Amino acid sequence: MGIRIAGTGSYLPEKVLTNSDLEKIVETTDEWICTRTGIKERRIAEANVPTSDLAAKAAEAALAMAGIGAEQLNAMSVASITQDKIFPSTACIVQRKIKASNAFCFDLQAACSGLLYSLEVAKSILLTHPEYKYFMVIGAEKLSSIVDWQDRSTCVLFGDGAAAILLEKTEDDENCFIGSKLGSDGNYADILQIQAGGSDTPASHETVDKKMHFMKMDGQAVFKLAVNAMVGACRETMEKCGVHPSQIKWLVPHQANYRILKTVAAKLDISEENVYMNVHKFGNTSAASIGLCIDEIVRGGKIQKGEYMLLTAFGGGLTWGATLVKW
Ligand SMILES: CC(C)(COP(=O)(O)OP(=O)(O)OC[C@H]1O[C@@H](n2cnc3c(N)ncnc32)[C@H](O)[C@@H]1OP(=O)(O)O)[C@@H](O)C(=O)NCCC(=O)NCCS
Repeated sequence: MGIRIAGTGSYLPEKVLTNSDLEKIVETTDEWICTRTGIKERRIAEANVPTSDLAAKAAEAALAMAGIGAEQLNAMSVASITQDKIFPSTACIVQRKIKASNAFCFDLQAACSGLLYSLEVAKSILLTHPEYKYFMVIGAEKLSSIVDWQDRSTCVLFGDGAAAILLEKTEDDENCFIGSKLGSDGNYADILQIQAGGSDTPASHETVDKKMHFMKMDGQAVFKLAVNAMVGACRETMEKCGVHPSQIKWLVPHQANYRILKTVAAKLDISEENVYMNVHKFGNTSAASIGLCIDEIVRGGKIQKGEYMLLTAFGGGLTWGATLVKW
């Protein structure tokens, strides 16, 4: 039995928020944002549009590419840090919206590494259950809903969007996911988090007054840990699979910041022209970012059969990982 990617899809809200728009909201400049992050603009969903709306549109695009109906899905996961509600899962709400009535659905929480974690889970479920054929993996975020729009150190970084990858089990033994390495380290749980709203610190007037429902981040600590974690996971994955950096058609890193991406590529000895980047257009979209890149690559005809994509991510938790895909 093998696994292939039968379809990809993405959805980005129409509203564009540029760096010059941000100059009017917080004390920042286009020049500061561009030189520190590479981000020029990001998409922002309307106030009444939840993450599940973005996710449903991305999933429908992936189904259309594959030419199958939602009722054929056996399973569906949504990776997100901006779930519609604490419960039920966003995946169940997406199920209702796209009418995936035969799928079992669940959310997966690994912050910006969520898509890589989800692919690992989806692949394993498909390969261990003879009766399952299609698994929809979604990464979707409405980060504008958890950003403190008065905190210039975070609000310039993030954007909204969703991406879906439809996995299909095939009769042959060709598995497009040829190797991976996932990791996490809860000792760093505090450097990237939302402090309140969960069972540790339930919502109260005080938590709202103290803005504890917004994302908080130690940017410099994240930067250093991110580079080391992604480089280590990528090296281990390539070594395990016997694939040399020169064979990688696309390094597809989580789109957090172009300086992080360039540093990772340099340490891995992968040429910058083989690093896929769209962070300038969409900012950091957390669990959606790698899927947004893959959808652009696939729809743009930028990958041919037999070529390698090395996906890599890091995020809150901390979590990180690398996944090698043979197209
Ligand atoms: C956030 C990040 C871009 C900040 O860049 P940096 O070079 O580390 O900048 P610093 O935090 O040291 O801040 C430098 C100065 O810029 C200021 N600054 C912060 N945000 C600013 C903004 N949007 N505009 C202008 N100035 C800003 C700071 O206040 C600080 O001023 P000071 O020196 O007077 O105190 C960088 O740390 C980063 O990319 N980290 C990784 C974050 C990330 O990827 N997170 C997502 C994980 S999934």
